[in-house]
Amino acid sequence: MSRGPAPVLRRVAVIGCGDIAALHLAAIETVPGAQLVAVCDVDDGRLDAAMAATGVPGFTDLDRLFDEARPDVVHICTPHHLHADQAIRALERGISVILEKPLAHTREEAERLLAAAEHSRAKIAVCFQNRYNQPAERAKELLDSGELGAVLGASAVVPWHRTAAYYEDRPWRGRWDTGGGGLLMNQAIHTIDLVQWLVGDPIEATGSIATRALAEVIEVEDTAELRIVHAGGATSTVYATVAGVANLPVTIDVVCERGTLHLGAELTARFADGRVETTVERVTASGARAYWGVSHERLIQDFYAGLDEPGAFWLHPAEARKAFDVIQDVYDAAIPERRSSVLAAQLGGR
Ligand SMILES: NC(=O)c1ccc[n+]([C@@H]2O[C@H](COP(=O)([O-])OP(=O)(O)OC[C@H]3O[C@@H](n4cnc5c(N)ncnc54)[C@H](O)[C@@H]3O)[C@@H](O)[C@H]2O)c1
Repeated sequence: MSRGPAPVLRRVAVIGCGDIAALHLAAIETVPGAQLVAVCDVDDGRLDAAMAATGVPGFTDLDRLFDEARPDVVHICTPHHLHADQAIRALERGISVILEKPLAHTREEAERLLAAAEHSRAKIAVCFQNRYNQPAERAKELLDSGELGAVLGASAVVPWHRTAAYYEDRPWRGRWDTGGGGLLMNQAIHTIDLVQWLVGDPIEATGSIATRALAEVIEVEDTAELRIVHAGGATSTVYATVAGVANLPVTIDVVCERGTLHLGAELTARFADGRVETTVERVTASGARAYWGVSHERLIQDFYAGLDEPGAFWLHPAEARKAFDVIQDVYDAAIPERRSSVLAAQLGGR
């Protein structure tokens, strides 16, 4: 019986052991050769729980983890304001990074990360895992094939719900200085990324933000309306909220010259000649929250599989920045005084 070559061993650490870390830990177990060697958190309870669940040493200090556990890859699953800095510290040591979205919490931090990624020999992925959803992949394939003709326009809706407890349990999520924003930076960024990936690079974005249901709990927005102009001339609109009472499927409708796409829990493609094609999502037993989607595992496996190949991973910071910049443009134009804690922090630092 012939066997393939043994997988390359990768020493792996997970930084931030909160909600999403569980999905990363489960995905790491599916990667041939990936060996979890350390976990890191500044919260004693979460660090202890992660150490007990994984059996690996825990660290509260990132540099000590780098020195002692010597990871080849780190998964960064921390609050947004730590992303760029922690990723840069890893990249500067030649450690590859799987970074949860968004790539940073401010434009300045995003710039710093882009420069570090460009100069590092290590690789970096930003977790826009929904690009690996099968209906989204098929939509992209159909659009790229030319079969549908040019895109005329698109519209997306994110009709979601978050409780007050979601923010009270993790106060960083509701603040400008730690979240870098609210619904747009935390939830709708996935949909904005999919829209721009399908329709074309964003060249202009306008919109408004509001806090319609959670103003007593959060200082950031829970609702937004956007209009994006894409390269090629098509425009799209996005309505997104976490002020609803349930988490319904995100939908994206793309109207093209010779067909229309309806991307929801599944993809329905309607062609000008009357054909209708449906693409369903695969089923997983990961136990993840439904609104996270099912594709973290696929993104993570893809990243590891390409670690020794030349060139950047396709979902690198410059790519992840497209949706991020749309959001920043909307924030810049919207009610600046909402960013009170960012401004206060900046003024305080002078
Ligand atoms: N891709 C997705 O679909 C998806 C889904 C959920 C969350 N996320 C992202 O994952 C990240 C974490 O979100 P979460 O919901 O798991 O948050 P969380 O608050 O549950 O977890 C964050 C963890 O980081 C720890 N932490 C804080 N400061 C730290 C530091 N200096 N060093 C090490 N650990 C530190 C916290 O103690 C906490 O345990 C965010 O970027 C979020 O946007 C992505």
